[in-house]
Amino acid sequence: MFGWIKGSKKADPPALDENGLKMVIDIRDITKTYEMGELSLQVLKGVSLQVKQGEFVSIMGPSGSGKSTLMNILGALDQPTSGEYFLDGEDVSKLSEADLARVRNKKIGFVFQNFNLLRRTSAVRQVELPLIYGGTSGRTKKAKAALESVGLGQRIDHLPSELSGGQQQRVAIARALVTEPAMILADEPTGNLDSRSGTEVMQIFQQLNRVQGNTIVFVTHDPWIARHTNRVVMLRDGKVVADRLVANPLVAGEAERPSEAEELEGVFQEAYYGGKKEEYN
Ligand SMILES: Nc1ncnc2c1ncn2[C@@H]1O[C@H](COP(=O)(O)OP(=O)(O)O)[C@@H](O)[C@H]1O
Ligand SMILES: [Mg+2]
Repeated sequence: MFGWIKGSKKADPPALDENGLKMVIDIRDITKTYEMGELSLQVLKGVSLQVKQGEFVSIMGPSGSGKSTLMNILGALDQPTSGEYFLDGEDVSKLSEADLARVRNKKIGFVFQNFNLLRRTSAVRQVELPLIYGGTSGRTKKAKAALESVGLGQRIDHLPSELSGGQQQRVAIARALVTEPAMILADEPTGNLDSRSGTEVMQIFQQLNRVQGNTIVFVTHDPWIARHTNRVVMLRDGKVVADRLVANPLVAGEAERPSEAEELEGVFQEAYYGGKKEEYN
């Protein structure tokens, strides 16, 4: 934890920023190269990113730009090839597999696109699992509270097959937050959901972020979903090409998503070379 004890040349990052907020993610010049026999593929080409406590960030970018690779590193599921990663103040870029597992269980809640729920296990037992691994006491009570916080207090004994897609993803979110992690990471959590269920999940994320102050970083392909977060980081070819605050984040469920026809209309309008649309017909 303390770089100077190990005699490291670089100073540790400040634990708090000028407003007294903790830096939850601090990665510096991360690279990731996959070696496949003779071939090597550099997927991340020097990514730096700082995320403070309480932020709600979406990561966007074309398919293959390295979003999942970055999320796996942020989630301590994988190690970078080079660069540094301070997670909640702890240098995790050189930890052993056993220490990474401890960090994952204590500090990170991960939500996956396909929910990753056990088929024959009730909601409350699913949510207890990370607590069993962590050796926590009072597991059932905590699991019930987590399910209540995602609006599933009445569904704790249901199996995944008895729940809608949106509800299943909410169980997965409860499982991610029951250990009170420093942050929640989600790789395309709304990718497999219809738009109504996607809105349901966004409502939960916004509530966790705004009311409980949870730090959330997630990947989405969908600009409409990204507009519900506070900051958008754009990846392209393994580099951050934009990192901006969202001017007026949408509140999930309040605004109506424009229809595809309306969105296309915008695209068509941009294709006119000046003058009004009517003048072209
Ligand atoms: N384990 C792996 N071994 C080799 N190549 C990989 C591996 N994981 C991802 N890749 C490659 O890295 C690139 C980025 O993948 P990924 O991070 O999944 O992108 P994204 O999530 O943005 O679509 C892709 O070209 C993909 O094929
Ligand atoms: Mg991906």
